[in-house]
Amino acid sequence: MALGERNIFNENFDNLMFPVKRAPWPSTWINDEEVEIKENKAIKILTKLLKKPTVAVILEPLVQGAGGMNMVRPEFIRQVSEIVKNNNSLLIADEVLTGFGRCGSLFAFQKANIIPDLISISKGLTGGFLPMGITLAKETIFQSFISDSPKKTFWHGHSFTANPLGCAAANASLDLLEKDPIKYLSFEEKHLSHLKKIKELPLVKNIRVTGTIAAFDIEIGKNKGYLNNIGKRIKALSIKKGLFIRPLGNVIYLLPPLCITDNQLEKSYRIIYEILSDL
Ligand SMILES: Cc1ncc(COP(=O)(O)O)c(C=O)c1O
Repeated sequence: MALGERNIFNENFDNLMFPVKRAPWPSTWINDEEVEIKENKAIKILTKLLKKPTVAVILEPLVQGAGGMNMVRPEFIRQVSEIVKNNNSLLIADEVLTGFGRCGSLFAFQKANIIPDLISISKGLTGGFLPMGITLAKETIFQSFISDSPKKTFWHGHSFTANPLGCAAANASLDLLEKDPIKYLSFEEKHLSHLKKIKELPLVKNIRVTGTIAAFDIEIGKNKGYLNNIGKRIKALSIKKGLFIRPLGNVIYLLPPLCITDNQLEKSYRIIYEILSDL
């Protein structure tokens, strides 16, 4: 909670949380002419922040999920990784949402060609079928807890750590993913072909795609944000037409299961197009 941006979810607890410094996230989209300016600014601020000894930098590689499907270029993540390494800080990649094919590679960090020090994974690990999460650490970090002295042990575990059913579901889901990587490797083009039509709608702004995730904003003037009502209206209308989407405020996104058929995807976009045309 401390790490997340202060917002409706956590601001009531602000005085209980440890201080965290934040660097800007240079969100980008198709035909964004200012992407480099935004990235340079973010890198400058991060570099300045890291002048102070810093334990770790954490980010969601390529796509900030619940934050609004905010996407950045792989080059930016690569630059961040280099700066973090040069400062002897740890880089933590939160791949809870982005992992397991979501961003068009098995893990998002691979697209950026980096190796984080720690990685958190969950959701897609079991295909969402059973709850399970894992924290992965580089060998050097792992080894620092290995000792004859119990004082070195990382004394933390969950009641259901390595739950056998969770592990079985994860193994089954990983088998499917390994057998059929084409399911996530070729997804971007599918989204882009449908987005051509969506792009024509005057209310639609900032279209972005990373792997299996597609998102765009609905132009609503000043009242942006998670609690904007437009998303609720669009959601209600789309459920009536047989599509369950969950907009984040004015951000409409599709993050379909990898088993979605071409027809189902086409229908999803058709319903969204119809609703937005009538708004
Ligand atoms: C990117 C990201 N990180 C972390 C979490 C929280 O994960 P968990 O519920 O396993 O604590 C979520 C949950 O939605 C998430 O989307």
